[in-house]
Amino acid sequence: MTALAIAADHAGVALKAELVTELRKLGHEVNDLGPDSTASVDYPDFATKLTALVTRGAPPLGILVCGTGIGMSIAANKVKGIRAAVCRTEFEARATRQHNDANVLCLGQRVTGGGVALEIAKAFLAASFEGGRHQTRVDKVKALEVDR
Ligand code: RB5
Repeated sequence: MTALAIAADHAGVALKAELVTELRKLGHEVNDLGPDSTASVDYPDFATKLTALVTRGAPPLGILVCGTGIGMSIAANKVKGIRAAVCRTEFEARATRQHNDANVLCLGQRVTGGGVALEIAKAFLAASFEGGRHQTRVDKVKALEVDR
């Protein structure tokens, strides 16, 4: 089973709660970073909390939920060492782990229903980076992180 962190904004808090419950039932170790209510918050604040842990590898994977998943992914991808992907399908979730070594899955509560989101999260957590030619490409992505 996998250790992961999860966080949301007010527009993703309901889907986050559903995922926390279901992923824990499946045996995953889930660190829920909040929020716990639908009071308005700013998604970059929660992306920052989660990416601070994931960049240290503690835990190595994260899930961020906002209204669309897009704001969270934009914020998370500003952080060195983070490769965040918005996924709408299980195929994308599996492929972004295998090919991009994505370490953060972003979901949109206003876009993806709970049942589908859970299957996407399961696919993301079950897949592994394939390395090889993908390592070369990920290394080139990492090289873009230097200050220019
Ligand atoms: C909040 O209304 C919404 O803008 C946010 O959750 C997210 O969808 C941004 O990308």
